[in-house]
Amino acid sequence: MFVTELESALDGTKFRANELQTTHQDRPLWVRYDLEKIASAVTKDDLLDRPADIWRWRELLPVPKNARIITLNERSTRLIKTESLKKQTGHRNIWIKDESTLPTGSFKSRGMAMAITMAAHFGVKRIALPTAGNAGGAAAAYAQQANIRCLVFMPEDTPTANQYEIQLYGASAFLVNGLINDCGKLADVAKEKLNCFDLSTLKEPYRIEGKKTMGLELAQQFDWKLPDVILYPTGGGTGLIGMWKAFKELRELGWLESDIMPRMVAVQSDGCCPIVDAFKSGERFAQPFQNAKTIAWGIRVPAAIGDFMILDALKESNGTAIAVDEQMIDDWTKISAEKTGLSICPETAACVGALEHLKSENWIQPHDRILIFNTASGQKYKDSKKVELPKININKEINWEMIEASL
Ligand SMILES: Cc1ncc(COP(=O)(O)O)c(C=O)c1O
Repeated sequence: MFVTELESALDGTKFRANELQTTHQDRPLWVRYDLEKIASAVTKDDLLDRPADIWRWRELLPVPKNARIITLNERSTRLIKTESLKKQTGHRNIWIKDESTLPTGSFKSRGMAMAITMAAHFGVKRIALPTAGNAGGAAAAYAQQANIRCLVFMPEDTPTANQYEIQLYGASAFLVNGLINDCGKLADVAKEKLNCFDLSTLKEPYRIEGKKTMGLELAQQFDWKLPDVILYPTGGGTGLIGMWKAFKELRELGWLESDIMPRMVAVQSDGCCPIVDAFKSGERFAQPFQNAKTIAWGIRVPAAIGDFMILDALKESNGTAIAVDEQMIDDWTKISAEKTGLSICPETAACVGALEHLKSENWIQPHDRILIFNTASGQKYKDSKKVELPKININKEINWEMIEASL
């Protein structure tokens, strides 16, 4: 294990790595590694001889040698080059990294595998968290494997597929008549009242480390020459923050074979865009977004405790933040799924829409290699659109004209 310490992202205060830690002044902690020691202990080629899963990166992960790894077999996700969105986005060099194939159907399993492995290692018996849906499903599944009781609070309009999944894995789950931040307040109370460890986004240091594996995998899949632009649907920010941390660590290790660092793009809906507003006004901290509304549930996060970490990553990477038209997300979901054949979630569809804007503003150039993450399986969102298919009664004469007209 190469972890040296934990460090406040706000003011650099150091914390011991061999104890259960949470936040400092209600803001997140970084996990710090002895990168020089890692560079002399392993080469990137050594890692590639191991099974292609998130644990192959173990030197860059916080899990102590004697810890029991809580895993559901998190394989590297596929990277797909697609030209099929060229007409919609005006761009050919698009890759999609498809996180829908991970356990519980979303990228959240990366963070939860790490957070729950560490929680179990430190003897946690109960966790509580708020969720927009996918994090709750992943937390429930991993907690069950670790024999940890899991308490989940979610907005009452959370997709029923997520509700089903959370219950299926044996968590205690509650629907709340509020947004994710209201659910977060309940998790905070459960911490005191019910002795639960708070596993909310960025309130413990290890979910970021799990998300970092997206960046590590990507670097390897791009032959250690990172793409020029990464579009990421941004809610609480762990994905974007984790990836940017991975790229910086890889640069410091000397493993990258090109100086290009991706320009990171935080994509939100104009129905909930606190990060975009803060980025535009040049603030380091975001104001809570009022009346947040979007069908891309994972990015319906009105306030994020890692706001400054997201904004720092955007600035350091020469990136940007963009809010797309909420009304278009549904159409983009359908178009992206139809064109790519992938199970595209609305959060990813927002990124496809953002690409169209960035192209029209010349923020991206034809030679740019663009990467979009498909962060979850589209099937989970069946509630976001009412599907009304015509019915056929086999006891009556079948109307083949109507069927042909539908073709
Ligand atoms: C499908 C999906 N995409 C994106 C996000 C946003 O991720 P992050 O909180 O890492 O910004 C979420 C979070 O719930 C999500 O479920």
